[in-house]
Amino acid sequence: MNIKLVDLNLQYQNIKNEIDAAVHGVLDSGQFILGPDVTALEKEAAQYLNVNYAIGVASGTDALHLALLACGICSGDEVITTPFTFIATCEAITYCGAVPVFVDIDPKTFNINPVKVEEKISKKTKAIIPIHMYGQAAEMEPILEIAKKFQLKVVEDVAQAFGGEYKNKKLGTFGDAGCTSFFPSKNLGAYGDGGMVFTNDEKIADKVKILRVHGSKEKYFHDLIGFNSRLDTLQAAIVRVKLKYIDQWNNMRIEHAEQRYNKLLSNCNVVTPYTEHYNKHVYHLYTILINNREGCRKFLNNRGISSAIHYPIPIHLQKSFEYLGFSAEDFPVSSEISQKTLSLPMFPELKEKEITYVIKTVKEFLEST
Ligand SMILES: Cc1ncc(COP(=O)(O)O)c(C=O)c1O
Repeated sequence: MNIKLVDLNLQYQNIKNEIDAAVHGVLDSGQFILGPDVTALEKEAAQYLNVNYAIGVASGTDALHLALLACGICSGDEVITTPFTFIATCEAITYCGAVPVFVDIDPKTFNINPVKVEEKISKKTKAIIPIHMYGQAAEMEPILEIAKKFQLKVVEDVAQAFGGEYKNKKLGTFGDAGCTSFFPSKNLGAYGDGGMVFTNDEKIADKVKILRVHGSKEKYFHDLIGFNSRLDTLQAAIVRVKLKYIDQWNNMRIEHAEQRYNKLLSNCNVVTPYTEHYNKHVYHLYTILINNREGCRKFLNNRGISSAIHYPIPIHLQKSFEYLGFSAEDFPVSSEISQKTLSLPMFPELKEKEITYVIKTVKEFLEST
């Protein structure tokens, strides 16, 4: 049996008629930059999340970059986040001329440890980026309290958690801004790059809107030096179709994770994802902790099962961030967890017999070592 980590083609086949019609609609309209599909998606996404504004941009990385700029982050500022993330979170901070200041993660949820945030705040600190890793909310209440106390902006990285909730409220709606990615393999993915900024703040929304089109409100009148960072119209039309299915797909992920994977792996020598009872974890990734991860990956691969590592090197140990001068011991939880994470196949269309086969194979591996 061959099982992919994410099967985008299978999903496309299920919604082919709608996607093809949406794409042809754009082709027939001849409107390829912004236009009605981008505006409609912005409205629909804002409605889904119950926020005032949603602004489509070229990628999740750009969403973070433009949101930070719109929050006033600039050269010399410090922005708090964790080193246990995809590099884009930290790149966006550096694009503003700011410095990432790392806080280690909670060993159970892999999200920023709120208890350790305050000790990292200096006069230069301007913002916190909580990342909702793998689909589960960061601990938003204490983070918002700290932000209020020290007058910091909060920019949520929702790239892995669209539709996820913290205490019955959608992620991406707690901070000054929320940023998501429509990278194809994300739980709400396009068929190319794309991203979006969510906010209730009119000033932040206006600034992101201007920044994404070369700093102009009116064509050829440039008030700021901006960027070319529009959400592609074809991608917007595709995401509009997929947005209608997001709750159904997220619920299928939850069922795979909680009713199958977690239960079948419960008495094995692996750590299954820990979910706080007040979180709706949407399992963009189903990631376990396992010793001898490389051996397991090879074993799975030889039996047709794809897996992945999110992420093998935490940001404080990446070559690109060597200049910050950190070593593994500076953020011991992130350093250790990075050695053990293994993401197993996870996508809504995954079949029960496929999950059973994955589990059986993981168990065979564990018994063989
Ligand atoms: C946590 C996180 N932040 C940011 C990004 C960046 O998104 P994009 O690839 O759309 O630029 C990603 C995904 O790639 C991500 O996983």
